[in-house]
Amino acid sequence: MQADRPPVPEEIAELTDPGNREDPYPCLDKLRERSPYRPLPGLVVLGRHAQCSAALRDPAMSAARDRANLSPTPRGPRTRNFLHLDPPEHTRYRRLVVGAFARRKVDSLAPRIHEIATDLFQSAADSGTLEVVDDLAYPLPLRVICELLGVPFEDRRLLQDWSAALSETLDPPLGQTAARVTTEAARARARFVGYFQKLIKERRNAPRDDLISHLTQVEENGQRLDDNDIVVTCVLLLNAGHETTVNLIGNAVLALLRHPEQFDRLRADPALAPAVVEEVLRYDAPVQMTTRVAREHGRVGDTEVHPGDTVLFLLGAANRDPEVYPDPGRFDIGRSPAASHLSFSAGTHFCLGAGLARLEVAIALELFSTLLVQPRLRPGGLTYKRNLNLRGPERLLIDVDGVRSG
Ligand code: HEM
Repeated sequence: MQADRPPVPEEIAELTDPGNREDPYPCLDKLRERSPYRPLPGLVVLGRHAQCSAALRDPAMSAARDRANLSPTPRGPRTRNFLHLDPPEHTRYRRLVVGAFARRKVDSLAPRIHEIATDLFQSAADSGTLEVVDDLAYPLPLRVICELLGVPFEDRRLLQDWSAALSETLDPPLGQTAARVTTEAARARARFVGYFQKLIKERRNAPRDDLISHLTQVEENGQRLDDNDIVVTCVLLLNAGHETTVNLIGNAVLALLRHPEQFDRLRADPALAPAVVEEVLRYDAPVQMTTRVAREHGRVGDTEVHPGDTVLFLLGAANRDPEVYPDPGRFDIGRSPAASHLSFSAGTHFCLGAGLARLEVAIALELFSTLLVQPRLRPGGLTYKRNLNLRGPERLLIDVDGVRSG
């Protein structure tokens, strides 16, 4: 129970303090220097690149977070999606959808992504202002994942609200998880279930060329997936497929506007967009952390890890490890990509949608650099989401002098 927990140490309180959302990196630097670090019984924090990279690939680290001694909200197996499963169950579910995110399949979506993004820029920027989050960063990935799954985009407001409520529960078990957050998440999950059950029924009766129909038809050892398996997979894909990408778009636009010399390089050569995406992923990770639960006794450096311990991986800190990235706080789109960031995690749970996210955001940034005339940050136009883990602007207002035709 949370009430029995020892007080949260200062460094952790500093990290979770909403006042530090704008720039959590000084706190993350301190935590990385102390890593591996046991701030509380049952919790081990890792922030160095080499430690995170090795432990994320270690089969002794389980993704079943409800096994944790610290876990405030144990969840039953029926609500677990494959992000929370270990092999062999994880392998079974991931295999069913992996084809939809294969390189060739994702590349074939480029013209459609280009079309959606161009429309969004043109309709919003005609007015002389662009609220990057609402006008571009949300609708682009949400529309793409809705089309892939076969979910009507007209329902986007509902989906967006439910998804945002679920995303708040992705913050790690540090400090207090407000009762409001867990109640809203439970309500959102129930609504998602009802919503998807209806769609699944429709697709079972009249299949289309979409992922929901595919999931209703796949057979494994002569067995079909039941509705619950399909619902949890759809909720995972819908949620993971846009909440994260929204933040990558917001973080990228902000980094470019704050570093005009880097923005000029992109403007001079829009083919650099994929390099910008990689550097933003490193410099300002949209998913700042993840957790695992230790299955057995082990050791990271001189710190002992016990079964049931939560291991917290500070991906955003690892991405700024000076042992790997010289001058890590500098935003430089020309960095050698040789040392890879951990923003899409590593090992068995490496992000399934990494290729799709990279493509969507590279297209958005290429258009951002070519279509908009003199984009600039409106003073006072930036606020951050309250989430600690899914990091990005809540509102990012820019002024433009016009929009070129695509
Ligand atoms: C910038 C955008 C994105 C970021 C930063 C991101 C980040 C991540 C991270 C860090 C994980 C692993 C968490 C862990 O190891 O515990 C993950 C897993 C996952 N992501 Fe993404 N993601 C992004 C976009 C997407 C997109 C577009 C999709 C598409 C549907 C997607 C689907 C998934 C799925 C299904 C998993 C679970 C994989 C598994 O457990 O095997 N993500 N993502």
